[in-house]
Amino acid sequence: MARARDAVVTSQTTHVLPLEFGRRYPVLKRGDGVWVEDESGRRYLDAMSGGSMAATLGHGRKDIIAAARAQAEKLAYVHNERLTNPAQERLAEELVAVAPEGFTRARFVTGGAEANEMALQLARRYHVDRGESKRWQVISPAQAYHGPTMATLALTGRPGLKRPLEVYMSDHLHIPPSTWRFDPSGEEALKALDRALEAAGPETVSAYFCEPISAAALPAYTPPKRFWEGLAERREKHGFLICFDEIVTGIGRTGHWFAAETLPLVPDIIATAKGLGAGYAAIGAVLCRQHVYDAIAKGSRRFTLGHTWDGAPLSCAVGLAVVDVLKKEGLVEHVKQRGQRLRDELAAALKDVPFVHEVRGHGYLLGIEYVDPRDHKSFLPPELRTAGRVDDVAFEHGLITYSTMPTRDGFAGDQTLFAPPFTSTDAELAEMVERYAGALQQVAKELESKLEARPVA
Ligand SMILES: Cc1ncc(COP(=O)(O)O)c(C=O)c1O
Repeated sequence: MARARDAVVTSQTTHVLPLEFGRRYPVLKRGDGVWVEDESGRRYLDAMSGGSMAATLGHGRKDIIAAARAQAEKLAYVHNERLTNPAQERLAEELVAVAPEGFTRARFVTGGAEANEMALQLARRYHVDRGESKRWQVISPAQAYHGPTMATLALTGRPGLKRPLEVYMSDHLHIPPSTWRFDPSGEEALKALDRALEAAGPETVSAYFCEPISAAALPAYTPPKRFWEGLAERREKHGFLICFDEIVTGIGRTGHWFAAETLPLVPDIIATAKGLGAGYAAIGAVLCRQHVYDAIAKGSRRFTLGHTWDGAPLSCAVGLAVVDVLKKEGLVEHVKQRGQRLRDELAAALKDVPFVHEVRGHGYLLGIEYVDPRDHKSFLPPELRTAGRVDDVAFEHGLITYSTMPTRDGFAGDQTLFAPPFTSTDAELAEMVERYAGALQQVAKELESKLEARPVA
């Protein structure tokens, strides 16, 4: 079993039920700004904000810790079913003030999947309370991730993620992503949306559910403008709601308080989480526009289900401290400006790496897509596990990255997310880019020999 000072844990050396039984898990014991340190004292640059993009303000922030402590000393916990508290009230006020125009209410939860499920329930409540109880189905992009609960897994169209749990899931409909490879104009996705509406019967559709800018499933991808316009036209015609999963993109990640601000349509419901607690508390939120609220206010007047920790003083006080830091330090605007340069710096550093197809992104949500260097188009052969190799080599170079390889699902191949804390200095960003480029050059060399004997996929 794991000894206190092991720098790496494997399935043989832990009582923790591992996520992947063949993986070695580095043990990290402290963090400071954009650096984290393992049990052996080795330090790593955290280009992934804690691995999940939650730690937007870096590690070890004394001001947020002090705010959490002060709240815990006053009142750490009361349940929001019959009671409320000043921190929850103020955080709701702060969030609707920075949300896109027309968003007037917020409900707090404890994480991303819960926020998305609450959004699903809210959309359903809206329709039922307006007398349209046939509406329940959801249409969503296939290449997405909305959480690991049964309801949120049902929203993705990736068999690789859902198996063998589909037996527990509702049968929703999915459309392919409008990537450069399949549908650069967005027209094919609109046709697929029309087919899905037709197949479901438009009068049964509750919501179109999507990430405005994708995170791990398709890093930093967003459909073309034409798709968003066509989606808004179809909402107008058919009466479904648009729910945005801003679990990652909300609270500054893309250089805006919400990525919705940058698109030519306003959603009806937004779910957000990670950056709201910035890794210091488990908190998420669902926000809705006034017309969604009004439907329930005039209908059942009830939207009651919730979790024990929803709106707790401690997590809301952390949320307030996070919003305060973002405002005081101008970090949302900083991420917007600096993110463009960071993307250019990454693109310049990777321009000679033969399997890099594209560096894309908004703010500090950047994605690097890899292709087979022999035709600059095909997915890399999945058995080479290039994405995993990128993360391993980057880690050897002292850099934490996050890469994925959903190739078997058919919509995207190997890719890496690059999503540093908003507080990274110029020198730290430069060091991250250099280490990442070094790692990719090493992987490129390894790939060359591995690809020699194989046909293009
Ligand atoms: C886009 C997106 N939605 C939802 C979730 C689920 O959030 P959580 O893990 O907090 O339940 C994630 C988590 O990575 C995510 O990236």
